[in-house]
Amino acid sequence: MLRALASSVINVLHRTLIGPRDITGIVIAVIMALKLKKAALKCRTIEDFVNLAYSLRSTRLSVRPLQIKEEFSVLLKLLVRVRPKLILEIGTAGGGTLFLLSRVASSDATLISIDLPNGPFGGGYPKWKIPLYKSFVWGQQKIILVEADSHNPDTLEDIEKSLSDRKLDFLFVDGDHTYDGVKRDFEMYGRLVRPSSIIAFHDIVPGPPENVGGVPEFWNEIKQNADSVEIVENWEQGGFGIGVVFV
Ligand SMILES: C[S@@+](CC[C@H](N)C(=O)[O-])C[C@H]1O[C@@H](n2cnc3c(N)ncnc32)[C@H](O)[C@@H]1O
Repeated sequence: MLRALASSVINVLHRTLIGPRDITGIVIAVIMALKLKKAALKCRTIEDFVNLAYSLRSTRLSVRPLQIKEEFSVLLKLLVRVRPKLILEIGTAGGGTLFLLSRVASSDATLISIDLPNGPFGGGYPKWKIPLYKSFVWGQQKIILVEADSHNPDTLEDIEKSLSDRKLDFLFVDGDHTYDGVKRDFEMYGRLVRPSSIIAFHDIVPGPPENVGGVPEFWNEIKQNADSVEIVENWEQGGFGIGVVFV
């Protein structure tokens, strides 16, 4: 009886391409989601949410953003004034920035986050993290996770369908950091933002090429003709830094 049950479970797992590792992952992700939800209820300020994202961890999981804490906090304080309703993030990775963006978005916001499985500059995320990322919503929010290459025209078409003629209030570009990659993201998705909105780029500070790629070079070009600010703790920190363009 037990043997039959075990073999049918294994069959289902094979058919759904979910392995025992994924099952463990899903359990860890669900526990983390519950912990995060509970802890988030106690947060009052942006600093509280930021501290939570940077501190909460279990053995295999954390939602620590790949950002300098103080820099991302400044960006969040800019955004909370706008309470964006439509957000597109390119570069989900560990979900840290997605979590924090959901906290400053409006209660009925839609947040779309694109990541390329095994992509460069971070490597994407395993499927078992999806329940955790989906759990970031509060109020009537919706999170749409797009596992695809942002440069693929089909991805752009999918995003446009999700927006159905609405325009973005905030675009966060933190995906492919090569010069051509960041430029293409800006050209493809920058036209989806509405006037008086915000586009932000991560890793504008020169640093190790494997971390910042060609973002500093691209940023130096576009900031010339844009209404922009640079959120940088220290220009000698080697990478990080956020460039903000007011559209
Ligand atoms: C630096 S990480 C994002 C970090 C995240 N925003 C944070 O701070 O927690 C960059 C992510 O972009 C993804 N990526 C790289 N090239 C991409 C592409 N062409 N399309 C979509 N995602 C891409 C990588 O898979 C990686 O997970």
